[in-house]
Amino acid sequence: MMNEMTTVTDTAAQIAAEATPARAQPTLPDAQTVTQVTHWSDRLFSFRISRPASMRFRSGEFVMIGLMGDPHPETGKQKPLLRAYSIASPSWDDELEFYSIKVQDGPLTSKLQHIQPGDEIILRPKPVGTLVHDALLPGKRLWLFATGTGFAPFASLLRDPQTYEDYDEVILTHTCRTTAELTYGAQIIDEIRSSEMLEELIGEGFADKLRYYPTTTREESPKMGRITDLMRSGQVFEDLGVPPLTPTSDRAMICGNLAFNIELKELIEEYGLQEGANSAPREYVVEKAFLD
Ligand code: A2P
Repeated sequence: MMNEMTTVTDTAAQIAAEATPARAQPTLPDAQTVTQVTHWSDRLFSFRISRPASMRFRSGEFVMIGLMGDPHPETGKQKPLLRAYSIASPSWDDELEFYSIKVQDGPLTSKLQHIQPGDEIILRPKPVGTLVHDALLPGKRLWLFATGTGFAPFASLLRDPQTYEDYDEVILTHTCRTTAELTYGAQIIDEIRSSEMLEELIGEGFADKLRYYPTTTREESPKMGRITDLMRSGQVFEDLGVPPLTPTSDRAMICGNLAFNIELKELIEEYGLQEGANSAPREYVVEKAFLD
């Protein structure tokens, strides 16, 4: 792996040298250093990288990250292999954190899952996305609906003071196949609830607004079932003691696998909420988790 990573760096330098006027010093454009890697299961891992000093982002946004692809069989040329990744770390963090699936034959994640501290990866520092506060109209209760790695943008939003300034209640639902796949999210929720630093930043008792509703579909856990089914049956509203969503009080952000996004979008629209965007804020927003 080290060899492969060395190649990445060399090639990036070469590309930079070719793209820059002759008198400029060649640099490594968009290379960042991996600082930490955690494997949560055979399907999931998270990693942290250095953050360009000038890079700003809004909680919930994503960036393109990746590695150099394999050399072309004939020309030997390498191209960057990039995918969109939601930023999981809060915007006030010195580093950037990402949460990823491992797809064994996935073009990027089959390689990315082997990164180690000290390795370099490519980061295009141009954050964009629709899972942002700016795309929602003011409301009372914010629902954040995630499956699998779709938790990532919410990990950032849940550590943003604005989330608690804008809403009286914030409900995060996370549906995964197994309890092991809930661990990353559960740990972040625990950290948020016990963080003195966040309490200082956001205000005393802010965490009382945060409700966490994890469910599993393929392994026994205290709450089983897809969140969509639990909404249709009314179970989730009963469990949390809140009424079903209404366009006057509720706002929603959706991030998960494609089938989930489509199904939940339909359901949310049945409650009367309409989709918003940066340019036209409304009652809900959706973004797919970017799978390999
Ligand atoms: P299920 O196990 O019933 O397929 P994945 O890891 O495949 O991305 O799935 C993450 C979670 O999303 C799983 O618990 C899965 O449930 C659930 N899921 C998949 N499709 C839908 C859907 N259309 N609506 C609600 N949940 C879904």
